[in-house]
Amino acid sequence: MSDESDELILGLETSCDDTSCAVVAPDGRVLGAATVSQIELHNQWGGIVPELASRAHIDKVLVAVDTALTEAGVDPARLTAIGVTRGPGLIGSLKVGVDTAQALGYGWDKPVLGVNHLRGHLRSADLEEKRVTFPALILLVSGGHTLLAHMTSSADIRLLGSTVDDSLGEAYDKVARMLGLGYPGGPVVDRLAKDGTASIPFPRPMLADGLNFSFSGLKTAVRNFLAEHPDAPPADVAASFVAACLEVLEVKCRRALRQVEAESLVIVGGVAASPQVRQRAEAMCTDLGVKLCLPPLRWSTDNGAMIGLAAWDYLARGVDVGLRPTSSLSLDLF
Ligand code: KG4
Ligand code: ZN
Repeated sequence: MSDESDELILGLETSCDDTSCAVVAPDGRVLGAATVSQIELHNQWGGIVPELASRAHIDKVLVAVDTALTEAGVDPARLTAIGVTRGPGLIGSLKVGVDTAQALGYGWDKPVLGVNHLRGHLRSADLEEKRVTFPALILLVSGGHTLLAHMTSSADIRLLGSTVDDSLGEAYDKVARMLGLGYPGGPVVDRLAKDGTASIPFPRPMLADGLNFSFSGLKTAVRNFLAEHPDAPPADVAASFVAACLEVLEVKCRRALRQVEAESLVIVGGVAASPQVRQRAEAMCTDLGVKLCLPPLRWSTDNGAMIGLAAWDYLARGVDVGLRPTSSLSLDLF
């Protein structure tokens, strides 16, 4: 529940397969939130079907808005603004969020700010409490992106490297599909891997090579291995795949931390929900004496709260980039 003195933004996220809305204060407190997942809808197809995603967003977006406002106990008249994801993401899904936000903003007489989804993920590490300290190394690992960036202040983001092909989350999802584990595969592969032995020497792509990532060759190596060894224990395949991913992430983070000054390591995006990623990062950061900043589990995957908190930055800096939905958008842009 909110205090009468709280300033509040309504954050709306519909870029992919979650319809999510939250009421957020400038300090990152989340007063009410609702997320309607489309997992069941897409699971039967083994992956996201964009047209079905857009329709499901249309169905659920006002339910999510109502639920978040009711949980917060807030009348729309009290909102300072609405923040909505304008990209990157699926164009049809983004359009549902943007159109809804515009209609609500018009009806409620509130400004509407288009927010970069990646900046939302970045801010997720400060939800509920402030964690991030600068200078910081950012590792963003989601279904759509895998990148490293350096931040010396909240206004200064410099990209250091990104994937040249698949994202990490995409690789998890595709390996899950090969193992017949359904969609989204990340959490299932991660859990299964804990019961297996990492005995298969899958490649560690681009390990010796700078700060870019590549996961397509690793995914193909898993596919080829399964074609040759159809009876291999799935838990061992998952464990070996996860071991390769974790080693790549750790080597790249350590390399980046040698190259840039960083007081903290911030890991965000859906794959940051992985307990294995979290444990490995904790061990590495303890070893290096770097502060680890992770979003609470609930805010690691896509959500409206991170969009609301990012929208506060836009307001504070007077940034208004408009509301045109955009399928690709870089982290360093608004
Ligand atoms: O950030 P996100 O919710 O959506 C995008 O912006 O892409 O990330 C979704 C990705 C999916 O690939 C999903 O499989 C992965 O995050 N993911 C996980 C876990 N939870 C979600 N991967 C590994 N372990 C998890 N626990
Ligand atoms: Zn995301």
